[in-house]
Amino acid sequence: MTAKRSLLSGFGGYLPERIVTNDELASELDTSDEWISGRTGIRQRHRAGEGDTAVSMAAHAARQALDYAGATPSDVDAVIVATSTPDEAFPATAVRVQAELGMTGGFGFDLSAACSGFIYALSVADSLIRSGQARSALVIGSEVYSRILDWSDRGTCVLFGDGAGAVFLTTATPESGEAGILSTHLHSDGRYGDMLYVDGATGQRDRPAHLRMQGRDVFRHAVSKLSASVDEVLAANSLTHAEVDWLVPHQANLRIIDGVARKLALPTERVVVTVDRHANTSAASIPLALNEAVRDGRIKKGDLVLMEALGGGLTWGSALARL
Ligand code: COA
Repeated sequence: MTAKRSLLSGFGGYLPERIVTNDELASELDTSDEWISGRTGIRQRHRAGEGDTAVSMAAHAARQALDYAGATPSDVDAVIVATSTPDEAFPATAVRVQAELGMTGGFGFDLSAACSGFIYALSVADSLIRSGQARSALVIGSEVYSRILDWSDRGTCVLFGDGAGAVFLTTATPESGEAGILSTHLHSDGRYGDMLYVDGATGQRDRPAHLRMQGRDVFRHAVSKLSASVDEVLAANSLTHAEVDWLVPHQANLRIIDGVARKLALPTERVVVTVDRHANTSAASIPLALNEAVRDGRIKKGDLVLMEALGGGLTWGSALARL
């Protein structure tokens, strides 16, 4: 009997309607389009409206992922939501999503690994499927960073956006051939916890929590740790840089993305970039980028896709999958 493997069977995304351009931010803050786009590649971001919550955006992305796979909520065993901005301390965003989808079975929980959340959630879901504990899983990143940003701190508030992305994982069958998640690799180092953090819990209404960051230090760690992570996932699968068809990185900063792509010797047309339009949507950024590139036909069946992320913790990791 061959080992179980998980397949990326469905993709979905949700972006709030409201778009905020760099020029609009520059009309409220001492900043400029030139500063923001020159240092990060960001030109605009989506901002959650009154009706957008971590739950509503996650459910929207999840429904799209199920539709893509031709599946229904009754086909889902596990729901994992990676988020740093849940609407409530509990119940978990994931169980609220279960209810929104009309699920009456299975199980759901949230996972906190900041901008690496999607890679962490994908890794956990993959393990559940490989062990046979779940036959399928919705893996969702959903974030409303606009509600934890300090809008007087121009060094952080210009960098983030809101949104949700989802993938639907199923168990590979003999017909799946080589397709599936090949491996995932997770790391964290709490010594760097103060480099990027939120100064409180989201539940404290009388003391709103805000994101704090030492941007330059995060930048330095990002390029070196992500490059090592990319080497690690390829070595684990005895594959070379040249065999990677697509890099789908966490979308924090175009200069970080370019640095890792150079390390892989991947031409820019093989890198999926959304940071210019979405900014950094934390745990949602990779599934949003995947969804876009699969639906517009860039990423095709059989392609080898490398995903990587780094975020607060510090946490970082990578995943390799054949579509
Ligand atoms: N608009 C205009 N000026 C700004 C600004 C803004 N939005 N934000 C900061 N500045 C100013 C600073 O005050 C500083 O001014 P000073 O030299 O007079 O003190 C100057 O720009 C340089 O700031 P610095 O922080 O050194 O810039 P940088 O070149 O390191 O770029 C980041 C800042 C945040 C863009 C960059 O460090 C970065 O991208 N880091 C990684 C962050 C990240 O991706 N985090 C998420 C990881 S998941």
